[in-house]
Amino acid sequence: MTLVRFISADGTQVQEVEAPAGSRLLDIAQNAGQPLEGTCEGQMACSTCHVIVDAEDFAKLPKASEEEEDMLDLASHVTRHSRLACQIWLDAALAALTVRMPAGVHNMQGR
Ligand code: FES
Repeated sequence: MTLVRFISADGTQVQEVEAPAGSRLLDIAQNAGQPLEGTCEGQMACSTCHVIVDAEDFAKLPKASEEEEDMLDLASHVTRHSRLACQIWLDAALAALTVRMPAGVHNMQGR
């Protein structure tokens, strides 16, 4: 199990969810009601699953593929620790993972 901690874009809301090894971060986020659209369902064609990973946790994750990096270049509010949630699979070795929603995600939801 990995304890996944979702932080809202403005940092005011924190939600913690236990996720089994082998699950995909995008699915965990959506099941938890987090505002990630994931429009292309993991085809790396939309970047609406963009999340900002905690700096320490970022270093523990396998590196992003070139395709993922290219898609992140197109996302807004990208940081050095940005990843696509559809490309992160949780691993038994990862006890905890903290990710923050990028700025602007609430605006998209509000439309
Ligand atoms: Fe589209 Fe991740 S769901 S890039």
